[in-house]
Amino acid sequence: AFPKRVRLVEVGPRDGLQNEPEAIGTETKLELIDRLGAAGLAHIEAASFVSPKWVPQMADHREVMTGLERREGVVYSALTPNLKGLEAALECGVEEVAVFGAASESFSRKNINCSVAESLERFAPVLERAREANVRVRGYVSCVLGCPYEGEIAPAKVAEVAKALHDMGCYEISLGDTIGTGTPLKAKRMLEAVAREVPMARLAAHFHDTYGQALANLYAVLEEGVAVVDSSVAGLGGCPYAKGASGNVASEDVVYLLDGLGIDTGIDLDKLAATGSWITQAIGRPNRSKVGVALAAK
Ligand code: HMG
Ligand code: MG
Repeated sequence: AFPKRVRLVEVGPRDGLQNEPEAIGTETKLELIDRLGAAGLAHIEAASFVSPKWVPQMADHREVMTGLERREGVVYSALTPNLKGLEAALECGVEEVAVFGAASESFSRKNINCSVAESLERFAPVLERAREANVRVRGYVSCVLGCPYEGEIAPAKVAEVAKALHDMGCYEISLGDTIGTGTPLKAKRMLEAVAREVPMARLAAHFHDTYGQALANLYAVLEEGVAVVDSSVAGLGGCPYAKGASGNVASEDVVYLLDGLGIDTGIDLDKLAATGSWITQAIGRPNRSKVGVALAAK
């Protein structure tokens, strides 16, 4: 059955912008985060404490995390792949972080420069330190419906990594279709395998829309009871270590779908769509939200 309410995790300021080749000013990022909060997004992934050599676009993570104007009821989170990243994020007063692993060995090496097993070893002290600091940790699993280097990924492998992250203390596991190759039946089967190891209420769907399947895949997993969806305003984004991967499913499109299903999100679609129009103009990108484009033309 469909959930009554869905929580959106807006990843536009992080996943959406991390791959942009031209430098985007910190002021623009801060305005984006503020507008998203004003539109009713209650969880915004704002930055990434990764190496600036690996991902130059996220180099201003400190300025973003300390510069953003916190709104009541909104969680502002950041990626922290290791202790170094976590310590820096803690200095900036972060209240929630995320570690990111993968269900593919090759992707893990390209993305975070270590094997899957090594990544889990690295995350353990991050979770321990975060617990001490009273900071919640989310866990990502990438390549849950396919890998750019290995192709098909077994649902059992996804379930294994998801379980490891959950056992370690991640309060939520976000399942990433990094390259957007999934289709609804595959998404359902993968989810079934994971849900045998991690409670459904702890799972989130993080679908990229490279092949135009993200909304269909979301519909499939919502029907199974997933109630947390990651999305990016205007469909911004792509992963720097997944060539050709396009943006996340557009937040506007997700909200429109959920509104139509009578599922509550607490988000003001018009304000969100206006934010999508604004940011795409500000960074000179096409708006990849169909709903955003349609509403802007009205
Ligand atoms: P490494 O090179 O293996 O680490 O990088 P290292 O410990 O050997 O350090 C090497 C250098 O990086 C050193 O600097 C460290 O200080 C520095 P140097 O001495 O050479 O000047 N360093 C750091 N700097 C800043 N912040 C840090 C940090 N750690 C080390 N936290 C590391 C390992 C993970 C850091 C590196 O591989 C990296 O930064 N990778 C970037 C990965 C990334 O951001 N990918 C995109 C996000 S994941 C994603 O998009 C998928 C997702 O959306 C879900 C989905 O769609 O599937 C989440
Ligand atoms: Mg992603």
